[in-house]
Amino acid sequence: MHRPETAEKPHPAGRESLENAHHLRAEAIARMGIYPGKALEMLQQEGLLEEEEKRVSKEYDLDGINLKNETVRAIFTLEDLYDPGTARHSRETYRIAQMKMDKIIAGTSFRRLSKNEGVSEDEFENGCIGHDFGKILLPLSILHETDRKKYRSPAREVLSPEDLTRVQGLGFTGDETLMEIMKEHERFSGEILEKAGLFVEAYIAAHHHNYGNKKLEKYSATIGALHISVLEDMLHLADIEQALLSADRPYKKAFTVPEMMVIIVDETKKNEDLLFAAYLWLTDDLAEYEGHLLASGETPSEEDNANLEIVKKFLTDAKESVEVIDGLKS
Ligand SMILES: [Fe+2]
Ligand SMILES: [Fe+2]
Repeated sequence: MHRPETAEKPHPAGRESLENAHHLRAEAIARMGIYPGKALEMLQQEGLLEEEEKRVSKEYDLDGINLKNETVRAIFTLEDLYDPGTARHSRETYRIAQMKMDKIIAGTSFRRLSKNEGVSEDEFENGCIGHDFGKILLPLSILHETDRKKYRSPAREVLSPEDLTRVQGLGFTGDETLMEIMKEHERFSGEILEKAGLFVEAYIAAHHHNYGNKKLEKYSATIGALHISVLEDMLHLADIEQALLSADRPYKKAFTVPEMMVIIVDETKKNEDLLFAAYLWLTDDLAEYEGHLLASGETPSEEDNANLEIVKKFLTDAKESVEVIDGLKS
C-alpha cells in the first residue's frame, strides 16, 4: 500500500520549522487584540521576543539607522508582527524624513528648525518610527478595508461581532464609521508613546495627520514650553509621500512624483499651517525631480508637465508669505 513519504520521515527542516512555529505563535499573540504592553509581556514570557526583535532589527536595518530606544524597538517588532505593511511604511517614512533632514533648502534646513524647536534627533526618529503604533490597537479588518462604501459605514453594520467588541473596548460606541475609527490611530499612537514615557515623540506622532482640522483633533497632552510644529508637519509630509509613491498596498497604485507633489499642494491649500514645511519640502522635491530628469534623460508626460507647473506656481506664490516667517529670510 502506498503511504505518503512524509509520514515516515522526520521533517527535513526541523530547525526552520521550529523557528517558523515560534514566529507563527508570536504573530498570533500580536494579533490577539490585546494592548501592546500585554502582548509584549506575553512574547517575553514565552521566550519569543528576543528572537523576533533580532529578525525585525535585521530586516529593517534598525542598527543601521541607530534606533536606540528599546521600547520603540519592541513595539516596532510588535507592529511588524501585527501588520508588516504598517511597519514597512513607518520605516520608509522615517527614511524619507531623514533624507530631507540632511539637506539645506532655501537657506535653512529641517535639522536647524528641529533644533530650534528643541527636538532631538532621537526623539524625531522615535516619533517617525512610532507614528502609526496606534494602528496596532485597531482590528486588521479596518486597517485593510478596501471597499469605500464599507469604510464609510458604521462599524456595527460591517464589523464582525469580535471586532466590534474590540473597538468598543477602545471607547467607541460602534456608531462611528470605520474611517472615523481609523482616524483615531493618531491619538492612540500618542497614547502608546506617552505610556512609554516618550512625551515629545507622543506629541509628534499624535499630530502626524492633521486631518484638515487640527484644532479639533489636537492631542490633549502638553509638553511644557515646547512648541513643535515644523516637525509634525514634516512627518505628515513624509507620511503622505511614502503612502503615495509606494505601490505597497495592493489596492493602491503608486502616484508619479508630480502627482504626489500636487496632492501636497492641495493639502497645503486646505491647511495653511502646513505652508512653511510644505514650501521647503516641495522646493527640495522639485529640485530633486528635475535633477532626476536631467540625469536620466526622461521626459515627463503632458500630465506630469501640467502638474509641475502647478507646483512651480504654488512655490512662487508661497515664497512671499514664507519669507516673512522668522528664520527663513536670509
Ligand atoms: Fe497614520
Ligand atoms: Fe503613516
